[in-house]
Amino acid sequence: MLFRPVIALALVASAFADPLLKRQGSNTNAAIDKVVSTLSIKAHDSIPTINTLQANHTANDNTVGAQVTDLKNAFDTATTDLQGISPSTGSNTTDPTDNDLGVVFGGVLSVAASGLSGLTTATVPSLNDFFATLDTSISASVIAFNAAAPADSATFVNTLLRDARQFFQKEGMTKTLTALGFPTS
Ligand SMILES: *[C@@H]1O[C@H](CO)[C@@H](O)[C@H](O)[C@H]1NC(C)=O
Ligand SMILES: *[C@@H]1O[C@H](CO)[C@@H](O)[C@H](O)[C@H]1NC(C)=O
Repeated sequence: MLFRPVIALALVASAFADPLLKRQGSNTNAAIDKVVSTLSIKAHDSIPTINTLQANHTANDNTVGAQVTDLKNAFDTATTDLQGISPSTGSNTTDPTDNDLGVVFGGVLSVAASGLSGLTTATVPSLNDFFATLDTSISASVIAFNAAAPADSATFVNTLLRDARQFFQKEGMTKTLTALGFPTS
């Protein structure tokens, strides 16, 4: 009978469809970790500097603006680098794990949100422009992170930022809130 081999072949094909698809993905957590760790180092340089500028009363458009530019460049670099990494199949056992990625990236967003929250337009008149600039860059990095990292990393970031979201709301950074899956008001 002619149709038997055809059916047999179709069954073989469907049985292998899944493993073949799965084999196309790989665990790219290490590459993602490298990008978010670099971003973290830069954020942990710029944000304390902004806090010092506030504390020693030298915060103004120029001094804070220079740090905002550094931060923006750091987020933009992370976005470009993350866009070059294929979506990770992830791991909960091999380091860096899915949660490790969430801790590092969530930590960056948290320190950025809280570190900027003490600034006022009284000393930094361009502050709202700075927030709008950062909102665009940070939200793009969140979208790129969500595309590259395993889904549970993004879920973990959302969980970690339940407290920090109030700062993004105060700063009017609506694109970032949306990218993180939070309401904007
Ligand atoms: C204020 O802090 C900034 C950032 O650390 C530093 O560059 C600057 O020299 C400090 N200025 C004064 C007056 O202490
Ligand atoms: C890791 O755990 C999460 C949550 O339990 C799960 O959704 C995910 O599929 C796991 N990842 C892997 C690669 O097994």
